[in-house]
Amino acid sequence: MDDIKLLMPSAASILQSMRDIGYTLDTAIADIIDNSIAAAATQIDIIVNERPEPQFMIIDNGHGMGADELYQALRFATKPPTEIRSDRDLGRFGLGLKTASFSQARRLTVISSKAGQFCAAQWDLDYVIEHDKWLLKIIDPARLHIDQIYLEKITEHGTIVIWDQIDRIEFSGQETEAQRYLSQLLTKLREHLGLVFHKFIEGTAKTDQIKITLNHIEIPAFNPFCLSNKFTRVIGVEKVFLNDSEVTIQAYALPHYSNMTPQEYEMFRKRSDLLNNQGTYVYRNDRLMVWGGWFRIIPKSEQTKYSRVEINFDKSIDHLWTIDIKKSKASPPFAVIQILKQIIGQITGTSVKMTTTRVSKSLETKESPWNRYSGDGVSYRVNQNYPLFQTLLNSMSVEQRKHFHALIEVIESSLPVQGIYSDMAVNPKQVILHNHNEDNIKGLKEKFLNFAEFMEAKKMDKDVLREASISSGLFSGNLENLNRWVEEYYA
Ligand SMILES: Nc1ncnc2c1ncn2[C@@H]1O[C@H](COP(=O)(O)OP(=O)(O)OP(=O)(O)O)[C@@H](O)[C@H]1O
Ligand SMILES: [Mg+2]
Repeated sequence: MDDIKLLMPSAASILQSMRDIGYTLDTAIADIIDNSIAAAATQIDIIVNERPEPQFMIIDNGHGMGADELYQALRFATKPPTEIRSDRDLGRFGLGLKTASFSQARRLTVISSKAGQFCAAQWDLDYVIEHDKWLLKIIDPARLHIDQIYLEKITEHGTIVIWDQIDRIEFSGQETEAQRYLSQLLTKLREHLGLVFHKFIEGTAKTDQIKITLNHIEIPAFNPFCLSNKFTRVIGVEKVFLNDSEVTIQAYALPHYSNMTPQEYEMFRKRSDLLNNQGTYVYRNDRLMVWGGWFRIIPKSEQTKYSRVEINFDKSIDHLWTIDIKKSKASPPFAVIQILKQIIGQITGTSVKMTTTRVSKSLETKESPWNRYSGDGVSYRVNQNYPLFQTLLNSMSVEQRKHFHALIEVIESSLPVQGIYSDMAVNPKQVILHNHNEDNIKGLKEKFLNFAEFMEAKKMDKDVLREASISSGLFSGNLENLNRWVEEYYA
C-alpha cells in the first residue's frame, strides 16, 4: 500500500439519495412505529395536520431518550446490524428513523422526554445541503411550537417524531380533490398498520398490548387468518430450526365466503380480494414483513385463494432472510422454501376442495342442464342428454330442431364468462342464480306438474323425477313442497 486517502462522502448527496430507497407513506410510518415498540410504548398516536402547514406527528409513551441518546439516535447508521438487541427491538440498521422520515419530508424534528427532562433536535435537509455537512440542529424544546396537549402526552416519558416540509405527499391542488386524496392515503395507512401490527394491537405479540390511533381514531387489528371465525380451518404446524432458531410454518384455510359474517366478508373484500392476498404471511418477531404470494412455488389461483400460511421467524436469523432497510421485504432461506414445497399440497388442499366441491356439486350431477368440459381449455355446454332437452327435441320438426340447435350454440358461445368471473371475484354474495320461482306456491306447483308432464315422468322412477327437478334449479328453496308434490304425483 503506497498511501491512504480519506474519502468522506458528500452529506448533501447521500441524504438526498437516501430519500429514494423505496419507502411509501405506509412503510415509512411503520418504521417509526417499530422504534416506539422497541421503546416499550403501549400507546402510539399519529396526528396528521393539514394546516397551517402539512405535518405528521408520531407520539409514543415509550421510555424516551436523554439528550445524548437522542443525538445518537439521529446519527445515520447509529448502530451496526450485528449489534445484539433486546427482544422487542425491531430495529436492525440504525437508519429507519432518518431514512423513513426523509422519504416523506424535508425536515425531521424529534422531541423526547425521560425522567421529566425534555430534549429536542432537528435534521433539516436544506441546511445539510447548504453546508454539505452532517450538521444537526439542537433545539430548545421550549421554543418549539407544539400544541400543549401533545407535549403533555410525554410529560413523564415518551417521544414525538415530527415531519414537516412534506414534499413527497401532494397536499396542494383543488381543495376538495386534495382532501379526497389525503383521506384515501390515510385510509390505506390505517389498513396497512392494522395488518402489519395486528398481533401487537390484538395483544398476541410477546410485548404488552399496543393501542395505535390515527387522528384520534383507534386503528383496529386486521387478522389475515380470520381467526375469530369458527369456520377458519387450522392446518398442522411445521417447525424448522435454523442456527438454533425456530421458524414456525402454520397453515390455515379461511372460511368459505358464505360462512363469513357480512363484516368479515366486507373486510376481506375491501383489503383487496381473497385471490390477491392468498399465500404466505411472514412475521419477524410478531411484526408482519411481507405477505401474499407463494414465493414462486405455485401461482396464485382461484382454487388456492382460501389458503394462508403464517411463517414466524426471530430476528436472530435476519441475515438468512435478507431483510431490507424498509422492513418490507424478506426472502425465505432455502430450508424454508424446501419445507413449503414439500407441504404445499397439504397447505392448499383444503382450499382446493372448498372451491372444487362447490363447483362439482352443482355441475357434475348427471341430470344437470349444464356440462363442464375440460381439455385444452374449460368450457361449459348445455347437456343435450338432459331429459327436458330430449323431450323438447322429440316434439320438434327437423327444421325446428335446426333452429333450436343454432340458438343453443349461440347461448353456449356467448356465455358472459368474464362478467360472471369478475362479479364473483368482486362480490360473490351478490351473484345469484336467476330465480324463476313464482311467489305463490300454487303457481310453482303448476310449474312442477308441467315439468313432470313434459319429462313424461310417469315412465320414470319417482327418485329420478325428484333428482331431475332439484337439478333443474327451478324449485330451489322449495324442497319440502317439491318432495310432497312428487309423492302426490305418483300417489
Ligand atoms: N421513539 C423512540 N423512542 C426511543 N428511542 C428511539 C425512538 N426512535 C428511535 N430511537 C432510538 O434511535 C435509534 C435509531 O433508530 P433508527 O430507527 O434510526 O434505527 P434502528 O431502529 O436502530 O434500526 P432500523 O434502521 O432497522 O430501524 C434506535 O435504535 C433507538 O435507540
Ligand atoms: Mg428503527
